[in-house]
Amino acid sequence: MQAFVTRRIPREGLAALSQAGVCSIQQWDSDEPIPRSELLAGVAGKHGLLCVLSDQIDKEVLDAAGSNLKTISTLSVGVDHLALEEIKKRGIRVGYTPDILTDATAELSVALLLATCRRLPESVEEVKNGGWTTWKPLWMCGYGLSGSTVGIIGLGRIGQAVARRLKPFGVKKFLYTGSRPKPENAVEFQAEFVPLAKLAEESDFVVVTCSLTPDTKGVCNKDFFSRMKKTSVFINTSRGAVVNQEDLYQALVSGQIAAAGLDVTTPEPLPTDHPLLSLKNCVILPHIGSATYATRSAMSVLAANNLLAGLKEESMPSELQL
Ligand code: GLV
Ligand code: GLV
Repeated sequence: MQAFVTRRIPREGLAALSQAGVCSIQQWDSDEPIPRSELLAGVAGKHGLLCVLSDQIDKEVLDAAGSNLKTISTLSVGVDHLALEEIKKRGIRVGYTPDILTDATAELSVALLLATCRRLPESVEEVKNGGWTTWKPLWMCGYGLSGSTVGIIGLGRIGQAVARRLKPFGVKKFLYTGSRPKPENAVEFQAEFVPLAKLAEESDFVVVTCSLTPDTKGVCNKDFFSRMKKTSVFINTSRGAVVNQEDLYQALVSGQIAAAGLDVTTPEPLPTDHPLLSLKNCVILPHIGSATYATRSAMSVLAANNLLAGLKEESMPSELQL
């Protein structure tokens, strides 16, 4: 059997794949994304595909792969880059990497929240550019978590892990929203399930940790931001497309909200001349939620094991239910 790997991945994952002796491996061995033409050529006739979240695995790729392809393993918890309906129709199984990246992603979410609400990148810049002239009572003030209300959009694995980390900062109340109430997830934080509009109106901090689906696409839009408090801070570590970015830009420029911290954008990478990058009250990171050495290594091994299990027609360590 043959597998195609679309990117350079941590060596632990590649070792797990090659040492299993289950398949021969062809790899795009680069840190840079595979050109579309190379992807289409590379998947042809392969039985397994190990991809990353910036690869669009759509009908064209599936057609190019042909009927041998029975297993797709993505090095991500998000699966919005996969054409799931087409994949299901073809009887292809999908492996992904939930759980093992929860802690790293929650940690990054908290780091981004604190960096944004306490204005860390802006402050660092002021130290470097001479803006720090003396200690000033009214300078570089931001918003703190103590006594605050935090609204979480998507109280799943990562949302809960964020809430668990924020609680010791003195958060007074947690709100959450999503497709349905999840009392089993909410009980630890006494989090209240509310409609999206109410979450916008009552939260001091909004944290987006839901997955991107047709239901969540663009839900943080003009109406949403117009309901938020002028003193509130918006954080997104899920997928850029959950947010209408033009509406967010307007909300930040007009002072409708205080600040935003984004680990995900549309598109990725964000062009360096993008208007959002000119705003001091917007902190943007290059999609590094799961980027610890240990987590990326574990993700690569899990993705390898998912692929191998699929090829051997065994149950996967982490299979997506289609
Ligand atoms: C990261 O965004 C992931 O989906 O793993
Ligand atoms: C701050 O450094 C203070 O002493 O209040």
